[in-house]
Amino acid sequence: MTEKRAQWGSNFGFIMAAAGSAVGLGNLWKFPYLAGKNGGGAFVLIYLLIVIFIGFTIMLGEMAIGRHTQLSSYNAYQKINKNWAFIGGLGVLAGFIILSFYSVVGGWVLNYMFKTVIGGIPTDTAAYFGSFISDPVLPIFWHLVFMAVTAIIVFKGIGGGIEKSCKFMMPALFIILVIICIRSVTLPGAAAGIAFYLTPDFSKITAGAVVAALGQVFFSLSLGMGCIITYGSYLGKDENLSKNSLIVPFLDTLVALLAGFAILPAVFAFGFEPGAGPGLMFITLPQVFAKMPLGTLFGFMFFVLVLFAALTSSISLLEVTVAYMQDQHKWARTKSVIVLSTIMFLMGVPASLSMGIWSGFLIFGKNIFDFLAFSSDIILPVGGLLMCIFIGYVWGIDKAVDEITNGGKISFKLKGLFTIMIKYIAPLAVVAVFLNALGVLKF
Ligand code: TRP
Repeated sequence: MTEKRAQWGSNFGFIMAAAGSAVGLGNLWKFPYLAGKNGGGAFVLIYLLIVIFIGFTIMLGEMAIGRHTQLSSYNAYQKINKNWAFIGGLGVLAGFIILSFYSVVGGWVLNYMFKTVIGGIPTDTAAYFGSFISDPVLPIFWHLVFMAVTAIIVFKGIGGGIEKSCKFMMPALFIILVIICIRSVTLPGAAAGIAFYLTPDFSKITAGAVVAALGQVFFSLSLGMGCIITYGSYLGKDENLSKNSLIVPFLDTLVALLAGFAILPAVFAFGFEPGAGPGLMFITLPQVFAKMPLGTLFGFMFFVLVLFAALTSSISLLEVTVAYMQDQHKWARTKSVIVLSTIMFLMGVPASLSMGIWSGFLIFGKNIFDFLAFSSDIILPVGGLLMCIFIGYVWGIDKAVDEITNGGKISFKLKGLFTIMIKYIAPLAVVAVFLNALGVLKF
């Protein structure tokens, strides 16, 4: 059965949905700990440069492909040139991989939100976190709940599900974030954290830090796997793509920066380590909230914020695969959502178990969870690189610009920059960063 293709109710709705996809665990969980680990301000600076030059370009490229074809990733590439459909296929695969482990972490967030309210997080938060994630049952239960909520929203469709929920969750998220930032930077002793965050330590800028920043930009902006192609395919021809592809990365980066302000000063104020890694949100922060006046309230608000961010992202990941089944295999939305979310739930189970009873099962020296996360760190930049080559040399810049300007009706002042970035700089940067990481090149 073929269903009529949906459209966003308004450009604002699209922006909330696309920013919702972008703003997620990547901003709130990963960005602050990566910044904490890689020299604070220095990492932030590299990150900003990559967003401005590469993030904007790839986001615009994806939007143009999606809106031009009015199809989700695989079929979009296929329609323009069938030999390149595999890039879209890679993206659909990435959707399965990312959502399966993302939903596990979404489940952790649900557990923490719930536990904060009932006051059940023990003082030894490190031991609690370790025993919770390695439990064979509880994290899988929460993973199931998180996946079910994601599925229900996507099941309700583009306008009534994704757009509507993002128009509520994104502004709410922003308000909560600002409140927590104010709380954090006004704590006695917060200044050390602010200084750490804003003062670049250039000695920490290693090749590893640059690769981490690049991977983070792709992940955080939801690039390289056709997510923005899919969301762009529901956009009307009159919308201004170049403006949208500046606004979405701007909002995403703003939230990442604010997340740093919400978290790092509080961490310093109570004498904790900023470089705690992935445990920053689940081990350090609960201790910070425990010491803060009205900590239960702030802790609860914080995990609601993280939950909203995670949900508006997980629905975009599920939508990529659902739209593929609709466009390519003519499946109804209901059937796609039920089948695909079940598969992803099942794929997440071993990822969750790999934190505990299956931790001995290693692929290339990584447990299943880390291996899935690592594969997405590879697939996304590769997908972005191929997209640049596709637009620059296969589809052609002029056709892309014709779509961006809607046949010349919408002005696009950045054509020169866009052309140079997509044909030369962005692909070269991705390749250079990879070679550098592999030790082939040494800067
Ligand atoms: N950007 C989201 C985050 O930061 C995660 C995400 C959603 C994503 N959709 C994506 C990542 C598509 C890569 C590709 O948490």
